[in-house]
Amino acid sequence: MRTVVITGGTRGIGGGLARQLLDRGDRVVAIGSGAAGGASLRAEAARRGTADRLAFHRVDLGSVARTVALAEELRARYEVVDALVLCAGRYRTGRAETVEGFEQTFALYVLNRFLLPELLREPLARADRPVILNLCGTGGRAGRINWDDLQLRHRYGGFRATMQGARANDLLGVSFAARHAGSGIRYVLYNPLFVDTGLSEPFRQPTRALVRVLARLFAARVDQAVPPLLDLLADPPDRPLSAFRRSTPVDLGRREFDAETAVRLHRVLTGLLPGPAV
Ligand SMILES: NC(=O)c1ccc[n+]([C@@H]2O[C@H](COP(=O)([O-])OP(=O)(O)OC[C@H]3O[C@@H](n4cnc5c(N)ncnc54)[C@H](OP(=O)(O)O)[C@@H]3O)[C@@H](O)[C@H]2O)c1
Repeated sequence: MRTVVITGGTRGIGGGLARQLLDRGDRVVAIGSGAAGGASLRAEAARRGTADRLAFHRVDLGSVARTVALAEELRARYEVVDALVLCAGRYRTGRAETVEGFEQTFALYVLNRFLLPELLREPLARADRPVILNLCGTGGRAGRINWDDLQLRHRYGGFRATMQGARANDLLGVSFAARHAGSGIRYVLYNPLFVDTGLSEPFRQPTRALVRVLARLFAARVDQAVPPLLDLLADPPDRPLSAFRRSTPVDLGRREFDAETAVRLHRVLTGLLPGPAV
């Protein structure tokens, strides 16, 4: 039985993936920050007779300390982790900071996705065909890393923060694959494009209604978005790093995947963390 850890594994794409993996006989470790998502996942698993293979952890992954504690617990509990799926995300229209003083989008979309793969590397490396599947905005050209203001203290915008995260995640994939090339762990960057989840929720009216209508008209449903993820988890590409926009491969020769910039980001992120977390 495979063990798949899914951040944001309670709702949206991650929640849909968790439900289908449970139905297929895998063990799912789902992480979310709210009780409601975990409760509904549990209730559904109980109805379908799969609850014995589901573990739910309620953890705010925007916190470095809680991410480190969660990873410790998972390492103690699971000798082998076959797949780590990074889905946790929240769009923030206004700037807010975590208790540790990081801008929230940066903390969840960049720092957490930097830390967790490193912290779960040992149980991943024990699997037969381990894979990290990072759901992000790869293949887009919008956004940039604001090196002199990573926390966006001076010019915050929800889109700006999200797109900075997208560019950073491309680089996180590059640096993980380069640093752990011999580990056997494949790193897959995957952009699901437009999927009808709770995308309208963070916005006020009338934007909320508009996003809802656009999603109904143009976005894929979660049940349509999940099968390609199941395929990638079952049979990950052989290369240490690959990137896709839905089924279309993204050229890793593009400047978004520059190796030196990836090293720079790794150095900067390591410097932000307290103690030798990585
Ligand atoms: N939907 C799209 O069109 C789209 C397009 C491109 C990329 N993506 C990427 O795909 C991923 C999933 O998107 P989605 O639309 O499925 O998202 P979603 O429906 O909003 O679900 C997000 C998940 O993350 C969890 N989460 C949020 N904040 C958290 C925190 N601080 N700590 C722990 N868990 C947290 C949520 O659970 P709680 O609320 O309980 O915390 C939920 O399970 C995201 O990373 C997004 O960037 C999505």
